[in-house]
Amino acid sequence: APDISVEKVQGHLTELQKIAEANGGNRAHGEPGYKASVTYLQEKLEAAGFTTQVQEFTEGGATGYNLVADLPGGDENNVLMAGGHLDSVTEGPGINDNGTGSATLLETALAAADSGYKPTKHLRFAWWGAEELGLVGSTEYVKSLSDDDKSKINSYLNFDMTGSPNPGYFVYDSANEPEGSADVQKTLTGFLDEGGVEAEATDINGRSDHAAFSEAGIPNGGIFTGAEEIKTEAQAQKWGGEAGKAFDPCYHADCDTTENVDEKALDVNADAIAKSVWKLSE
Ligand code: PHE
Ligand code: CA
Ligand code: ZN
Ligand code: ZN
Ligand code: ZN
Repeated sequence: APDISVEKVQGHLTELQKIAEANGGNRAHGEPGYKASVTYLQEKLEAAGFTTQVQEFTEGGATGYNLVADLPGGDENNVLMAGGHLDSVTEGPGINDNGTGSATLLETALAAADSGYKPTKHLRFAWWGAEELGLVGSTEYVKSLSDDDKSKINSYLNFDMTGSPNPGYFVYDSANEPEGSADVQKTLTGFLDEGGVEAEATDINGRSDHAAFSEAGIPNGGIFTGAEEIKTEAQAQKWGGEAGKAFDPCYHADCDTTENVDEKALDVNADAIAKSVWKLSE
């Protein structure tokens, strides 16, 4: 897999923040900043050669949108999916939550297209709407799949917060999710290790968009750098940063801006995510 350029990922974060600033300060479901975020990603993916679809749904009286992008080629009966939510809360621009996961996935997708990668499996990326209102977009997507469609998804990787400013390095504990994949967990953990960080398995308890896939029997996993929880002394020894302080003190707040991202965490996770997508799709 190519090394993912953290500068390019940060460039997308800057654009997402500009989108929020031009649209009342957020990129939330039902607000113009959300739709503008979808358009920003869709144009880049189409230009790179992806086939994109925007799936609409209704939540709270407003239209929501999932963006789904397929890399042409590979075995359509054996699909590797990777996704994360693109919506923010109404309180702020949502740059760590979840501009980071969204921008990392975008760069990974663009790197796959630009490098001419021809995976054995079919690669599909997704950016979910209305996660912050209760995992709505991803749930709508899974609901729209037939049993046959579901059986063709080999596994789903989820990335929700990958650059917390006081970062933890967490991989979803497969033993704690209905269809948690030990293989996905091992792959993500192994590539984080290659990047120089010792990850911890953590119980996500269905708190992000992998949940609908898990409930539908689709193997899954993901990476997370921590939200409102407090970093322990042992974690600060291992990962740096500040013990006794939240992994993301700006979680769901107006200060979740481009200042609220740890560059090293963003880089290490982006590289581990790309390596995992390549490994799990070849
Ligand atoms: N889903 C939470 C949010 O978007 C963040 C989160 C991700 C929490 C993964 C726990 C685990 O606000
Ligand atoms: Ca890199
Ligand atoms: Zn959130
Ligand atoms: Zn989130
Ligand atoms: Zn979430």
